Amino acid sequence: MTEQNNSTEHPTIGISVVTLFPALVMSVAGSGVTGRAVERQRLSLATYNPRDYTTDTHRTVDDRPYGGGPGMVMMAEPLEEAIDSALEENSAQKDALVVYLSPQGQRLDHNLVCELAQLPGLVLVAGRYEGVDERLLESRIDREISIGDYVLSGGELAAMVVIDAVARQLPGVLGHSDSAKQDTFAGTGLLEHPQYTRPEQYRGMQVPEVLTGGNHEDIRLWRKKKSLERTRQRRPELLAQLELSSEDRRLLQEIEVEKTDRSDN
Ligand code: ADE
Repeated sequence: MTEQNNSTEHPTIGISVVTLFPALVMSVAGSGVTGRAVERQRLSLATYNPRDYTTDTHRTVDDRPYGGGPGMVMMAEPLEEAIDSALEENSAQKDALVVYLSPQGQRLDHNLVCELAQLPGLVLVAGRYEGVDERLLESRIDREISIGDYVLSGGELAAMVVIDAVARQLPGVLGHSDSAKQDTFAGTGLLEHPQYTRPEQYRGMQVPEVLTGGNHEDIRLWRKKKSLERTRQRRPELLAQLELSSEDRRLLQEIEVEKTDRSDN
């Protein structure tokens, strides 16, 4: 278990994952933003394998469903023991939220990620097979979270998505202190503007002139306009939820006029 950092300026979040595949989950600690969060002691990660909490020689964690049907169901007891160990061993997790990852849960979005990132601890329970015994969900799970309307083979990848998204929101984790604020959905609620890097000409395609002109105000307006245009084209429902400034409205009008001009020609 990674040691806790008790600095109040940069509190640590402790995330434990209950999983049959600990190596898969711990791979997030080895690289990228999540790796940096662990290194900088903003995030402590631990895994608890329900198989380690079985008492029979076969280390059984699943059984056939009552009432029949295909597949296997994860048994409540090994999962419950693993959750208890996570809560007992990790001091940050005394007040941890116990989350079960499943397609039946609340859909993960930016607001939920920010809410989770404020917590002292999380215990993420990754299920496998056809599901877990409902009595475990009723008695030990505080919240059920889904990462989208599709079915994964297990909760591990979903837990890793939660860990990555939460780690990005922890103070002192991203290289540039503002980059999480500039993310799509953060702050502005808009999709991101396009980005370009060298070379200036690539296979006959030129970087937009405004970005190489050095006028910061022009660049800011161009980016805002592209964000608005993209959001309106791709996710109009997001735009409808926003309170637009007079500048936003003016830029949207410009976009509308340019669109009409293009279709007239
Ligand atoms: N487990 C299986 N599918 C899932 C999903 N879509 N979200 C979260 N956990 C899952």
